[in-house]
Amino acid sequence: MKKIKTNNSQIIIGEDVFIALKKTLKPYQFHKKFLLVDENSFTHCVSDFILQTDLTNDIEIIEIESGEENKTLEICQHIWQTFLDFNADKKTLLINLGGGVITDLGGFIASTYKRGIDFINVPTTLLAQIDASVGGKVGVDFNNFKNIIGVFNEPKLVVIYPYFLKTLNKRQMLSGYAEALKHGLIADKLYWKMLQAGLLSDANNWEKLIETSIEIKNNIVKNDFEEKGERKKLNFGHTIGHAIESHSLKHDKLPLLHGEAIAVGIICEAYLSHIKLNLSSKELKEISSTILSYFNPYPIKESFFNHYLELMKNDKKNENDTINFTLLTRIGEAEFNHEASAENIVESLKYYISITK
Ligand SMILES: NC(=O)c1ccc[n+]([C@@H]2O[C@H](COP(=O)([O-])OP(=O)(O)OC[C@H]3O[C@@H](n4cnc5c(N)ncnc54)[C@H](O)[C@@H]3O)[C@@H](O)[C@H]2O)c1
Ligand SMILES: [Zn+2]
Repeated sequence: MKKIKTNNSQIIIGEDVFIALKKTLKPYQFHKKFLLVDENSFTHCVSDFILQTDLTNDIEIIEIESGEENKTLEICQHIWQTFLDFNADKKTLLINLGGGVITDLGGFIASTYKRGIDFINVPTTLLAQIDASVGGKVGVDFNNFKNIIGVFNEPKLVVIYPYFLKTLNKRQMLSGYAEALKHGLIADKLYWKMLQAGLLSDANNWEKLIETSIEIKNNIVKNDFEEKGERKKLNFGHTIGHAIESHSLKHDKLPLLHGEAIAVGIICEAYLSHIKLNLSSKELKEISSTILSYFNPYPIKESFFNHYLELMKNDKKNENDTINFTLLTRIGEAEFNHEASAENIVESLKYYISITK
């Protein structure tokens, strides 16, 4: 089992993580415990989890419907009410077993109920294992704005059991892969090269991939938990990506997944890096072609541009009304706090359209 220390907590990764989890659960043995799941983590992960942790008669399962559209305050209210119905006190423990929707939502519910109860993340998607469950950002969407309501708060423990990924479909795996590609681009060229060659098809690579991505994210977060500076590097691809994701959630019959939107954002923001920080044309092409070798082109229309810009202006990452970007100087090196004009952003979207025609 691999252990990674964060600011106030620990991440454990491997086949034998449940032995360590059982130890962490000891102090909670006489207290109320809840397990938050959606229907898919319920079907694929709950029985394994309960068996391996011996929690059979000792935990209340709360199941919600899957999907980003449920990462809302309404669902929080429903779960806070359930806590009250069970007389859950300050010593209550919430275990979040699921993808990023469950860990973001459950983390927020736990952080705010009675000013904060303990929670443990047991992520079951690649995206949640390498990104969402780590770093202490928890929250919900509101009025079509992604993650606009939330707090920083670390779980007691993050438990990563790579075996859970066996039931995840390829589209969801790739959505997580986008974040791994981002990790390579902002911090580790060698990792990027490995990801370019493809690490997903062989399950023996998963643990290594998860570990490398978490190390990169954790090293950045450790120095800047509340995102005053360096942590902004992790937003590469996300300023434009989040706008595309929000727009897609509202308008598309089959909306983009988070990582799919970030993949579009990575190409656009690599283009911005090219025009603003002289990222070389060679590396811009390398990034674009790698992303498009994994992700289908997304049909962006010029008529969406104004809505995208509006969404970006309201993005919580901005300060003083300007649109803030993390950009690459080269593959493996990122700089934060770069502004780009609306014209630059439109140009980058047009670049994406031109290479996906
Ligand atoms: N807090 C952060 O730092 C952070 C970082 C990145 C992303 N996020 C958030 O994470 C969310 C996306 O996470 P996600 O991609 O995990 O989405 P998700 O939670 O919706 O999970 C994706 C799908 O996989 C299903 N699923 C979960 N585990 C499974 C398993 N083992 N087998 C089969 N199916 C399974 C889910 O039910 C869902 O249908 C977004 O809301 C995003 O904003 C947060
Ligand atoms: Zn992301």
